[in-house]
Amino acid sequence: MNMIFLGPPGAGKGTLAQILVEKTDLTHLSTGDMLREEIKKGSDLGKMAKSFIDEGKLVPDNVIIGMVEARLKSTKGGIIFDGFPRTVEQAEALDTIAKIDLVIDLYTTVDVIISRICGRRICKKCGAVYNTSWYKKDTCQKCQGELYTRADDNEETVKKRFDVYTKQTAPLVAYYEKKGVLRHIDASGDIDEKIAAIMEIMESAHA
Ligand code: AP5
Repeated sequence: MNMIFLGPPGAGKGTLAQILVEKTDLTHLSTGDMLREEIKKGSDLGKMAKSFIDEGKLVPDNVIIGMVEARLKSTKGGIIFDGFPRTVEQAEALDTIAKIDLVIDLYTTVDVIISRICGRRICKKCGAVYNTSWYKKDTCQKCQGELYTRADDNEETVKKRFDVYTKQTAPLVAYYEKKGVLRHIDASGDIDEKIAAIMEIMESAHA
């Protein structure tokens, strides 16, 4: 099964995907993580992407589509797409390379997003995601790696990212609704509840 997590910054796409890959045989593909890897490596792609990411803007479609196409060549089995597609052009390109069985629209408010994003901490070593609202330590409880705050996780950039989501990505809700693969989940509330709801939807999509 190939599934997309659609939702604004901080909706919980990455957190939910990380938990689901441990419970299923799906692979997590996050274009945000792939871009941050390129930035870390200092590649030309990373240098170019950084200026867009820092300003809360989308990286150009042709760059993202090329990066995903290359990754898919070396990926087997079902995928959870996290943060991709983000424009109708990206969705149309994805349609030519993979069959999408399910799209989960994780909707929530800008207030929830700002409080979550401003408290997010990520492990430098294994990528585990935490939040200062429930985790106060500076090291990862899974691998003891150091936790850091993403450069684009500040209130000003988050507001811009939410605005970009509303204008450029939210039209994908109608795009996938028309294809009959869209399901909505209120992203606020307990993470375990969200996982249970998604797994129920996945089972009914399989049936
Ligand atoms: P990306 O990394 O994809 O960021 P995003 O979409 O803005 O999403 P986030 O990673 O911020 O949020 P999330 O939904 O994964 O939330 P998380 O689970 O971490 O993209 C970054 C940038 O790269 C973009 O702005 C753009 O420039 C570029 N880019 C990436 N893909 C692109 C594309 N396809 N096209 C063009 N440009 C692209 O959760 C957030 C926090 O909330 C965490 O602390 C978590 O612990 C907490 N939390 C999660 N769920 C819950 C819950 N249910 N209750 C309480 N707390 C929760």
